[in-house]
Amino acid sequence: MDRIAITGGMRLEGVIPIGGAKNSAIKLMAASLLTDEALRLTNMPRLADTRFLGRLLRRLGAEVTESDGPDGPETVLRTAEILSAIAPYDLVRQMRASFNVLGPLLARTGQAKVSLPGGCTIGARPVDLHLRALEALGARIDLHEGYVYAQAPRGLKGGEIEFPFVSVGATEHALLAAVLADGETIITNAACEPEIGDLADCLNKMGAQVSGMGTSTLRIKGVSRLGGATHAVIPDRIETGTYALAAAMAGGEVRLTNTRSDLIEALLDKMVEAGVEVARHDDGVTVKRNSGRLRAVEVETDPYPGFATDLQAQFMALMTVADGESVIRETIFENRFMHAPELGRLGADISVSGGEARVRGVEALEGAQVMATDLRASVSLVIAGLAARGETMVNRVYHLDRGFERLEEKLGACGAVIRRIVGDGEMED
Ligand code: EPZ
Repeated sequence: MDRIAITGGMRLEGVIPIGGAKNSAIKLMAASLLTDEALRLTNMPRLADTRFLGRLLRRLGAEVTESDGPDGPETVLRTAEILSAIAPYDLVRQMRASFNVLGPLLARTGQAKVSLPGGCTIGARPVDLHLRALEALGARIDLHEGYVYAQAPRGLKGGEIEFPFVSVGATEHALLAAVLADGETIITNAACEPEIGDLADCLNKMGAQVSGMGTSTLRIKGVSRLGGATHAVIPDRIETGTYALAAAMAGGEVRLTNTRSDLIEALLDKMVEAGVEVARHDDGVTVKRNSGRLRAVEVETDPYPGFATDLQAQFMALMTVADGESVIRETIFENRFMHAPELGRLGADISVSGGEARVRGVEALEGAQVMATDLRASVSLVIAGLAARGETMVNRVYHLDRGFERLEEKLGACGAVIRRIVGDGEMED
């Protein structure tokens, strides 16, 4: 397995271009199943997760073509015919979001068999809300031997879907199914994450009638068919926030381009409170930190526009060297502090109790061998390594490759001393 070695202590100076959002791209790819025409997605990130999903979509009948077009990396997806409405365990297991092919398959063919995704390291992550939403649209759902069997032989019908709490994936799933349902669907307590607006915008370009984007009520007037479209994936707000935090951790001045500062306002507010300088631009944001310690601040994760859970680990890395005690509360996932003991290996002073972590800032971190079991936790260790004395070796970086494209190159171009060591087959467990 590959590793990443970082020699800490270098300030970062330069420009980092941000890619398209992973968590938007994979839902947009699933949306391509809703039509027999071509969906052209530009500003596509090239990540392990988009490759996984491409493999699954091909299995279902899609042609997936990646190229470097005039607007940067693009992917064209066309499913002239659904050849199989079965998403097998081996492919869904590798990436939870694969489960979101269920709604489009059901909407287009009236039936689907999709493996349940199972839990993962950050929590149990059930899919009950996804299934209830599909039932509200008239689907019949049966569970057997780890698979969801969904049927709507006479098509889906518009309905009322009221979520008991906010779920990004279930909102997207409801949207993906409701666009081809007969009649109107109203989704209340919908998630407001920008990736949902992006999905709705793309669906509307394909001929859907979705309104209410950015609010907690989505209205969908079902249409009988969707067509092809061209759509640019929104910038990755988590990648943006991660590099903003990397610059704050290492010190220096970094301009993040091809992105939008309004997508990470909750993070920027907290960074300013901690003492980081932030300047917003039309195409992104510049983050600057001079020498001297930052202040410890409190953070609680919340659905958008609150502080993103996907930035919590990276923010914790920053707080390990702030002056004072920072309290970090995780409210979205029940087990999302696996990075805390690994940061501890670098000398951080963190205690975790339930959904709350107390981070008592130390003067400096010291490089060590570390390993993480999820994507955002892994990158928090890279951020910590940028400021730690000596060398930090982050093992098992395949998690990172799921969500960060050319990470070493982007940080290296700003002066970080960071290199990938390609796997030598050695066991790391
Ligand atoms: C999406 O996951 C993102 N993944 C996550 O990013 C992100 O952390 C999360 O939203 C919250 O912002 C993708 O978009 C692929 P949820 P999702 O449904 O949709 C519970 C990353 O690092 N729940 O909003 O799975 C669930 O267990 C990933 O890129 C149910 O109980 O998140 C969680 O506690 C990690 N039943 C809460 O809701 C359900 O049916 C919110 O989850 C669905 C969810």
